[in-house]
Amino acid sequence: MKMTHSILRRLLVAICIAVLGAFVLPPQDAHAKPTGNSCVDCHSEMPDKQLSDPVKGVESDIHHAKGLGCQDCHGGDPTKGMAEGDPELAHNPAKGFVGSPASKDIPGFCAKCHSDVEFMKRYNPKLRVDQLLEYRSSKHGKLLETGDGKVATCVSCHGVHGILAVSDTRSPVFRANVPGTCAKCHAKAGYMKQYGIPTDQFDLYKSSVHGMKLLEKGDLAAPACNNCHGNHGATPPGLTSIAFACGECHANNRDFFNQSPHKEAYAKMGLGECTSCHNHHDIAKPTDAMLGVGERALCVRCHSQGDKGFETAAKMAVELDTLKLTLTLAHELLTRAERGGINVRLGKYDLHAADDALIKARTAIHYFDFDKFHEVSGSGVTEARQVITQGEEALHDLRIRQIGLGVSVPIILWVALALYLRIRRMEREKPF
Ligand code: HEC
Ligand code: HEC
Ligand code: HEC
Ligand code: HEC
Ligand code: HEC
Ligand code: HEC
Ligand code: HEC
Ligand code: HEC
Ligand code: HEC
Repeated sequence: MKMTHSILRRLLVAICIAVLGAFVLPPQDAHAKPTGNSCVDCHSEMPDKQLSDPVKGVESDIHHAKGLGCQDCHGGDPTKGMAEGDPELAHNPAKGFVGSPASKDIPGFCAKCHSDVEFMKRYNPKLRVDQLLEYRSSKHGKLLETGDGKVATCVSCHGVHGILAVSDTRSPVFRANVPGTCAKCHAKAGYMKQYGIPTDQFDLYKSSVHGMKLLEKGDLAAPACNNCHGNHGATPPGLTSIAFACGECHANNRDFFNQSPHKEAYAKMGLGECTSCHNHHDIAKPTDAMLGVGERALCVRCHSQGDKGFETAAKMAVELDTLKLTLTLAHELLTRAERGGINVRLGKYDLHAADDALIKARTAIHYFDFDKFHEVSGSGVTEARQVITQGEEALHDLRIRQIGLGVSVPIILWVALALYLRIRRMEREKPF
């Protein structure tokens, strides 16, 4: 009796659950599932996409992932309004509700947390908290204060509902996506017309050494717009900050330049330290023709026959050519020796160092000083010459071996023939 009772009871419970599941509880995928947060619950039911999209958006948002809700950005009371069906109870100004901030208020809106050191430390002590300060120093920030609504604010670069961590490859400010994000405005001639500044930065950058590396090869070591302009302090880099920006990655070029006679001269003339020779958005792969006194040389733009810079440029170019020629010869000799069956492992090792000297010499150009340049390029020439001597010796040995072989082969053949003839004669003469 007890048995049937308990079976019946369980059956009843199961039927109840099934009925509830089918008719009472909403299906699992319905986004109307109440969360207890009135902002989410009411907004997800809004037919107006402008009002409901934020709810869908925040699902991928880093703020949402860290447990922050609508009310943490917008203020208001997330415990009220839903049951009553009255938005005003939730949109309560007494609870700090700010609604949708106007463009000019957005930096302050985001910075109420991002500039709050104590608050941010609780989430991520390593995250910078100077975005607002930097932003205010940028051209964007300065124009925003004058009421210009076309400049970039926090949300133009980061998005709004669905803000991702910078390291997320889908983020608009992930390094490889930054150029496209800036180009949204800066490449649009119509949008930028009133400002009278060029709109070719993205196009030039795309085909520069940096753009090709980053956008085509996906090499994240190459700079995007913000590496030169700053993330939040977007201003045209000033004279000193240009070398600083380039030097962050090209440290040797910077250090050599800083020791060079150009350092002071360029500062006086108000010239860009690196950009006066390499340009900025359309930096191309440098060629050796840029050095020297030839037609395509940079040096003759400012130096002319008779001055020390001209003389030095000519000497450096001759030495660079010498290094390249010696290297070519050394490589050729080693290849021939290797084909001749000689072990050239050591020679190859030495030549590697000389090849390296050529790479270093192209950097050492930035000393703009012959003696310092010569220390690098000269050692390369010496090393390459040593390899040439070794290669010549090896080839000489090979030639002697070949001559020896040339002489010994006929003799051996002659002896073999003589022996053969002798054996045949002996066989014929053999008595039966
Ligand atoms: C009962 C439904 C309901 C609740 C609850 C509710 N909202 Fe709204 N919300 C609306 C409606 C309807 C509008 C559009 C009309 C208006 O502005 O009042 C709106 C507008 C907004 C806007 C845009 C305002 C603007 O200035 O354009 C924001 C932002 C917003 N709500 C945030 C919130 C937040 C944050 C909460 C929770 C604290 C919340 N809402 C709770 C219904 C609701
Ligand atoms: C990280 C801060 C942040 C969070 C979190 C956030 N919002 Fe917003 N919200 C903003 C900002 C900034 C704007 C203004 C965007 C603009 O002007 O482009 C905005 C605008 C809105 C608007 C107006 C949209 C329009 O197109 O007019 C609504 C509605 C809204 N938010 C609702 C919500 C709801 C609902 C949530 C929670 C699901 C939420 N927001 C979470 C920052 C936030
Ligand atoms: C012109 C575009 C732009 C604007 C405007 C902008 N940001 Fe950024 N933000 C970036 C870029 C680019 C990065 C960093 C990418 C990196 O580190 O590689 C970044 C990074 C961040 C980070 C990560 C920490 C850091 O500083 O590197 C936070 C937080 C942030 N921004 C918040 C803000 C806030 C808040 C505002 C408004 C006051 C704002 N951003 C305005 C482009 C922008
Ligand atoms: C209620 C406080 C608060 C507000 C308001 C706020 N944030 Fe955040 N934000 C945070 C916290 C907390 C994190 C998570 C930091 C972490 O753990 O890395 C964060 C993370 C971020 C990140 C990712 C940083 C990273 O790790 O790469 C960006 C970008 C960002 N916020 C931009 C914004 C923008 C833009 C606004 C304004 C529309 C804004 N935030 C408003 C608190 C806030
Ligand atoms: C929402 C549109 C928008 C976005 C996105 C944007 N900018 Fe701007 N930017 C502007 C406007 C408008 C100006 C004002 C033009 C001027 O300087 O008079 C400006 C000015 C600048 C200036 C100053 C130019 C000068 O010589 O006066 C720099 C540098 C700059 N932006 C860099 C960037 C970088 C880098 C990014 C991407 C990380 C970016 N901007 C994203 C709209 C934008
Ligand atoms: C390798 C460094 C570097 C990179 C990368 C870079 N810039 Fe620049 N940018 C500069 C320098 C240097 C200037 C000019 C400074 C001057 O002449 O006063 C400049 C000037 C500008 C200006 C002012 C108008 C002009 O063209 O002179 C804008 C706007 C600008 N850059 C936007 C961008 C955008 C957008 C990107 C990415 C697509 C970008 N920059 C990439 C270094 C860089
Ligand atoms: C974020 C790092 C970074 C910054 C900032 C940077 N570069 Fe580069 N640069 C690179 C990388 C990476 C390459 C590709 C190197 C390669 O191809 O081996 C490169 C390539 C170059 C090349 C071509 C070198 C070659 O042998 O092909 C030149 C010239 C150059 N950069 C000049 C500059 C100048 C001038 C600036 C400043 C206006 C600058 N770079 C800023 C990282 C940077
Ligand atoms: C007076 C002109 C001039 C100035 C100023 C200048 N360079 Fe160069 N740069 C050259 C020449 C010439 C070459 C060599 C081209 C070759 O032989 O291939 C070169 C080559 C390079 C290379 C490729 C070779 C290497 O070192 O890997 C890089 C990178 C480079 N420069 C970066 C810079 C940076 C960064 C600055 C600023 C600190 C700078 N340059 C300033 C003329 C200049
Ligand atoms: C934009 C102009 C400019 C360019 C381009 C330039 N120089 Fe100079 N250079 C100067 C100025 C200005 C001085 C300092 C005044 C002087 O001594 O002529 C200087 C000084 C020198 C000096 C020191 C001269 C002395 O009196 O001690 C050398 C060496 C030199 N440059 C080499 C070069 C080489 C090599 C190149 C090409 C790669 C080059 N310069 C390209 C402007 C330039």
